Amino acid sequence: MNNSRRSFLKKIGLAGLSIPGLGFFGGGDAAQDEEPYQLTRPQRFNMHGYAAPKLDTVKVGIIGLGNRGSGTVLRLASIEGVEIRALCDLIPERVESARKSLEGTSHDPDGYSGSETEWEKVCRRDDLDLISVVTPWKWHTPMAVCAMENGKHVYTELPAAQTIEDAWKLVDTSERTRRHCFQISGSCHRSMQAVMLNMARKGFFGDLVHGEGAYIHHLLENYMFNKGKYQGDWRLKENLNRSGNLYPQHGLGPIAQMMDLNYGDQMDYLVSMSSNDFMMQDWAREAAQTDDYYEQFTDWNYRGNMNTTIIKTKKGRTIMLQHDVSSMRPYSNIHLISGTKGAMRRHPSPVRIATGHDDWLSREETEALVEEYTPEMIKRFNRMLSQSEAGNYDHSYYNVDVRDWRYIDCLRNGLPIEMDVYDAALWTSIIPLSEWSVANGSKPVKVPDFTGGAWKSNKRGMDIELENGGGNTRLI
Ligand SMILES: NC(=O)c1ccc[n+]([C@@H]2O[C@H](COP(=O)([O-])OP(=O)(O)OC[C@H]3O[C@@H](n4cnc5c(N)ncnc54)[C@H](O)[C@@H]3O)[C@@H](O)[C@H]2O)c1
Repeated sequence: MNNSRRSFLKKIGLAGLSIPGLGFFGGGDAAQDEEPYQLTRPQRFNMHGYAAPKLDTVKVGIIGLGNRGSGTVLRLASIEGVEIRALCDLIPERVESARKSLEGTSHDPDGYSGSETEWEKVCRRDDLDLISVVTPWKWHTPMAVCAMENGKHVYTELPAAQTIEDAWKLVDTSERTRRHCFQISGSCHRSMQAVMLNMARKGFFGDLVHGEGAYIHHLLENYMFNKGKYQGDWRLKENLNRSGNLYPQHGLGPIAQMMDLNYGDQMDYLVSMSSNDFMMQDWAREAAQTDDYYEQFTDWNYRGNMNTTIIKTKKGRTIMLQHDVSSMRPYSNIHLISGTKGAMRRHPSPVRIATGHDDWLSREETEALVEEYTPEMIKRFNRMLSQSEAGNYDHSYYNVDVRDWRYIDCLRNGLPIEMDVYDAALWTSIIPLSEWSVANGSKPVKVPDFTGGAWKSNKRGMDIELENGGGNTRLI
């Protein structure tokens, strides 16, 4: 294999790994001489459906207190039975400000700051149960692995990993330590997506054939070219010299849950294609005209603006995923599911449901169906919310959501969690695999089975009707 190819594979985490199935799919010769990356392997222990010993109080450390992490502090502090004991950030003022945001509550966390490795001390504390990771992407896997190695459950922001090797590391560590690794990402914890999941499970759409999801969110103006919005402008830098779907989880989560991926069906292979970059480099050059700081960003290859990835499942369904953080268009996760009897689409608003090919149902019919199919998990959360003072901030990052509440609720009730390490690994694997496919003329690439074949017998995840209990954790 030539050096440039090896260094490219190394960058996307597929170095020393072959792209299996290329021969099988009639693909190129370049991959033939590489060893396979780990497509699957026998499970050491099945973390799907695993219930860790119940915790009356969940003692928490939070690492990363920026845009999102400052909100994580307030969200978790709104849940009964949570005790925030440690806060960590590179920047001391952020620790202080997060501590301040908890004044007047029962929380009195210790602060950690000052070096890139202070977080290790948080993971090593012997009085914590859960570590929440809210840092730039490159830190997620090392922090999550270290937390689990030290006996803590993990609540990590997306993406949980950047490479296939790291995704396996998460799975191996979770199975070995029997600690949960929950990746925070778009999922059927959102109310409308929970309705879709309920309808799918009750057969409203018939046999599921196809799903679509996306992360289409213009980030150039207010986020990526807004100096200092992200610490060290890490998010802009993630878009240099890579092309693929860098943020698949928000779009994929609900579709994966409707299709029972990891517990009834599994991804088989994918193909991925990116447009060229028509915007990001121009944006950098324009920014550099008024601010020298942006000179360093003008000569890179930026990711193609729109990436489209198509996945085929073992049961023959298809999923289309898109990722675009630059084009001038409104936010969309799409979240479309279509089957033999009907279809539903979340974005663009309004929500649409169809039972035939003539037109979407009327607004009244749609509203009636949404009410009929709203599952117990959402109703219970809304009830808890209405009985509390939580959730009154003007920024969504600060308002406790169903996902936060239900994870803590499962830990406190000793229940299996709703999204486990296999979901984190599978949803994340789209990143390096799409990058590889894009770089290789959109060739097909096999998706690893992180469950080691257990997907065939695993029971369904996402207990949206709370059939197995819980749902009794209050909000404050
Ligand atoms: N789930 C969602 O909907 C959602 C929404 C927004 C952001 N996010 C995710 O949250 C994460 C953080 O995003 P953000 O917008 O808050 O970024 P940010 O740059 O505002 O915050 C990251 C924080 O991590 C700190 N940090 C960096 N390296 C560290 C280290 N070694 N030790 C301790 N602290 C360190 C930084 O100082 C910074 O305060 C990202 O992974 C992002 O993808 C998720």
